[in-house]
Amino acid sequence: MCGIIGINSNEEFYIKDAVKRLKRLEYRGYDSFGYYDGTILFNQVGHIKIPNTDDKSSRIILHTRWATHGGVTKFNAHPHQSTKKKVTIAHNGIIKNYEELREKLIKKGHEFTSETDSETTAHYFEEKLKTKTIKEACIDFLNDIEGEFALVIMVEGNENIYALRRDSPLVLGVGTNTNYVASDIYAFSDITNMAIFFENNEFAEIGTDHFQFYDKKGQKIQKEVQTFKWEQEESTLQNYDHFMMKEIMEEPIVVKRLLFSLKTEQKINFEKFIDLMRKAKKVTFVAAGTSYHASLLGVYYLHKCGIEAQTIIASEFEHFIGVDKDTLVIPISQSGETMDVIEALKYATKHGAKIASIVNVPYSTIQRISEISLNIFAGQEICVAATKSFVNQVTLMLAIAKEFGYNVNLENLPQRIEEVFTMKETIKEIAKTLFKQKHLYVLGRGLSYPVAREIALKIKEISYIHAEGMMGGELKHGTIALIEKGTPVIGLLNENDYDMRSNLKEVAARGANVISISNKLKGDIMISTSNDGKFGILASIVGQLLTYYLARELKLPIDKPRNLAKSVTVK
Ligand code: AGP
Ligand code: GLU
Repeated sequence: MCGIIGINSNEEFYIKDAVKRLKRLEYRGYDSFGYYDGTILFNQVGHIKIPNTDDKSSRIILHTRWATHGGVTKFNAHPHQSTKKKVTIAHNGIIKNYEELREKLIKKGHEFTSETDSETTAHYFEEKLKTKTIKEACIDFLNDIEGEFALVIMVEGNENIYALRRDSPLVLGVGTNTNYVASDIYAFSDITNMAIFFENNEFAEIGTDHFQFYDKKGQKIQKEVQTFKWEQEESTLQNYDHFMMKEIMEEPIVVKRLLFSLKTEQKINFEKFIDLMRKAKKVTFVAAGTSYHASLLGVYYLHKCGIEAQTIIASEFEHFIGVDKDTLVIPISQSGETMDVIEALKYATKHGAKIASIVNVPYSTIQRISEISLNIFAGQEICVAATKSFVNQVTLMLAIAKEFGYNVNLENLPQRIEEVFTMKETIKEIAKTLFKQKHLYVLGRGLSYPVAREIALKIKEISYIHAEGMMGGELKHGTIALIEKGTPVIGLLNENDYDMRSNLKEVAARGANVISISNKLKGDIMISTSNDGKFGILASIVGQLLTYYLARELKLPIDKPRNLAKSVTVK
């Protein structure tokens, strides 16, 4: 993960303004942050704070960290410098062979000050620059380094910034008298709409009013400047205390926006997407976390209308599935940058499969490497927990399934979501009875099984309560041993699901405190829809609200939960 930025300008800018840009990438990690402006090396543990100074600079590299190697400490915070302070770097990714390189560099007299894999790269360049030019050092780096990197480098006495990329995202923003290099376009989208995306094993020399890209052999490459359309304004809290609640409340609007887009600007792409699905011999979804749960619902909906599909968790993709030229692989990803998904897609492409993606963030890597891509139009999601993006992923799954004959009226979905919001007080009261619990279970069957898993994931990541989302029928095969007097069990009861009701009776008989979310059979929270598809979405929204109120009772940092990041760009 980590967010990196380099800015090279022929005019001075306030350092605090550069840090504000870094703040736009904070969703990528918030363990520590730092910058180097050619003179001052600053870093600090914790969320990004805008410095209270009027200091200026014309060249800077910045970093916000999600730790992979080495604890969350000031020493491990980026940027990192080489021993003689000639080279300063900010890195996103993992240098796999850093231990061997580190040993060699220590033997050559380099002194390390952090536990990170990243610091090795600063010493590596300093060592190389004793005998080689920067360009030659970059070529060697691309040969010698194993692993993933988006790396920005400043070298003492050199006016440029150097940037290298393999697998971690990196993009150049072309401004007027200023060039930007960053993990994503959002770092500079308010200033320029001209960008050049780095491909793997490319590097660039970035001056104030010039830049040059090179391939791994050091040959100059001319790359096309792309003009991007980015209409999103910086998201603000408005009257909300947290982005999570704001984003849940946006769900009716974003559903409408998505459905409208499928009839207008995405109409042709949508038709092509469906066509690819029809032609494919095998349809395989791939995703991680919440997006995986959306894909599971997709598999359910398609299965109900006779289309066989499957879904695999991205990080296990190549171990459990065979793909070939007749397979259509559909990645689902909010960020479009999840490394596990990208790796799975590489594997799929290598075996001849076609890629048709579903993403939220436009211009993201997954969108760019797909043959065709649909956007879910959920808008920028700031809270680490996916809420409105999940709702729109599932809405799109339903819209797709509808094309294959699934019976659902999506037009009144925004209205049904509003109706769930009227139950906020009831859900809050339930949270008050649950927040002191250490463990809870969420049970579902059929379509409500993915929803149970999604609700449990939300509860874990935001309220830090251990929650297990399970198939109701599976409980009796072991987990029921954990049910004791007072154990909370949330049951999802769709229509006349008497089997599920029996499962809830079984845990109640062992003392569980059962809370049911239902649309027909008597439940603690009643949802007004008799449609399977919509029940899936609406029950998950009840879970989102419950999670929010649990975390509020526990006074937790709702939008930025510990140990997490919004975009997971490491394996
Ligand atoms: C969602 O609440 C989680 N933070 C996480 O599971 C997320 O869904 C997962 O990392 C996948 O991300 P993506 O949709 O951006 O690929
Ligand atoms: N591996 C580096 C570190 O732990 C960068 C981490 C990342 O990109 O997420 O500092």
